[in-house]
Amino acid sequence: MAAVSTRETRWGVAGAGLISGDFCEALRITPGAKLVAVAARSLAKAKDFAAKHDAQRSHGSYAALAADPSVDIVYVGVIHPGHYECARVMLAAGKHVLCEKPMCMNAGEVASLVALAREKRVFLMEGLWSRFFPATVKALELMRAGEIGDVVEVISDFGFASKVSEASRLYNLEMGGGGLLDIGIYCLSAAGFIWGCAPSEVRALGWKEPTGADSCGVIALKYGSDSASAREHGRQPRIASLTYSMRTQTREVTLYQGTKGRLSLWPTHCPTQLVVEVDGVAPLTLDFPLPDAGARSAGPTSFVNSLGFTYEIARVQQLLGAGATECPEWPLQTSLEMARLLDSIRVQLGVIYPRTDSFLVRARALVHAWPFSSRILAALALLLAFARRGGRVV
Ligand SMILES: NC(=O)c1ccc[n+]([C@@H]2O[C@H](COP(=O)([O-])OP(=O)(O)OC[C@H]3O[C@@H](n4cnc5c(N)ncnc54)[C@H](OP(=O)(O)O)[C@@H]3O)[C@@H](O)[C@H]2O)c1
Repeated sequence: MAAVSTRETRWGVAGAGLISGDFCEALRITPGAKLVAVAARSLAKAKDFAAKHDAQRSHGSYAALAADPSVDIVYVGVIHPGHYECARVMLAAGKHVLCEKPMCMNAGEVASLVALAREKRVFLMEGLWSRFFPATVKALELMRAGEIGDVVEVISDFGFASKVSEASRLYNLEMGGGGLLDIGIYCLSAAGFIWGCAPSEVRALGWKEPTGADSCGVIALKYGSDSASAREHGRQPRIASLTYSMRTQTREVTLYQGTKGRLSLWPTHCPTQLVVEVDGVAPLTLDFPLPDAGARSAGPTSFVNSLGFTYEIARVQQLLGAGATECPEWPLQTSLEMARLLDSIRVQLGVIYPRTDSFLVRARALVHAWPFSSRILAALALLLAFARRGGRVV
């Protein structure tokens, strides 16, 4: 599909749920954005949603939205197990796609979407909106300019209090429940913004609820090597300590700790405040209020700071106008690495999605759950069997 050269970018929205509603309100306040069509699994729901958010057209299936010639780009706002199929249908029809986080349920699905987007030469991006808030942009700019020296540690938390219930998408595995995919991903991306999403070591501990979903988790990441030769080359430590919880409201702060000071962003997933503390200098607090919605009359939103979607939308529109097929700040390779990282953490937590996880992921989780001594015994037994067969595998 060619670059979007019209003055207005014509948006379609797939899924008539909570986040889609907030996204539509942010479209209202974004210059150059126009909501033209919405789709839901039922036409009646799509019509109600279209009336509420002033969309011109409504569709009773995602496939019908994919076939709508009046749409340039589709925002995929369905629950995460639906991301893959919904985005696939859009990409196959030649639509550009902005897909809510996490892009998919696992790395295999992400790889398949990335391949399809590249084949069709259309834009695809995972909607990690935090990256586009001006407070994040400023923090990254300061870190790149060396304001706090070498960044050696990222400490990030995100937590809110919720009730454990099989009926809630947050806790139901069939609906992609679990804190890691829902909010832990924001803490991982906070480290990812400066160091990428392919750490050299990952350790995770989680708390699983009776539904099988993780409500809380603690993740430690190490980037690069602390070997003697790495130290000789002046390599600084790079460590991240990340915590998420759906059982308690946390302070929700991301702290970038450098050799000469620190930066803190609040709140982690949609920051509007940045505190700069350079050692020996008085701290500086920078506020980045959301755009004034009043003038363009956005309606109420379900989640905190949702009008901040406007920053992500504006960036996507700029990229489409330039004919780009991915976003340099959060490229597809990074989404792939994020998906692999999420998979490897889930293996450690033992969180398995019955409908989408491969045999390999299940087997890795099973082996990981064995006590260390059992793993050693199993490895010895395999070695013994191998030796008895004269070194033959079969
Ligand atoms: N950026 C952020 O700050 C933020 C905040 C919240 C959520 N999110 C992301 O947004 C996505 C949706 O979250 P949400 O809170 O908006 O969810 P939601 O309102 O519960 O559901 C969104 C849509 O998913 C579809 N859906 C719901 N239950 C389904 C089921 N059992 N089977 C098939 N489809 C189902 C429905 O689509 P139809 O309308 O077509 O029926 C629904 O409208 C998630 O991936 C989440 O990670 C992002």
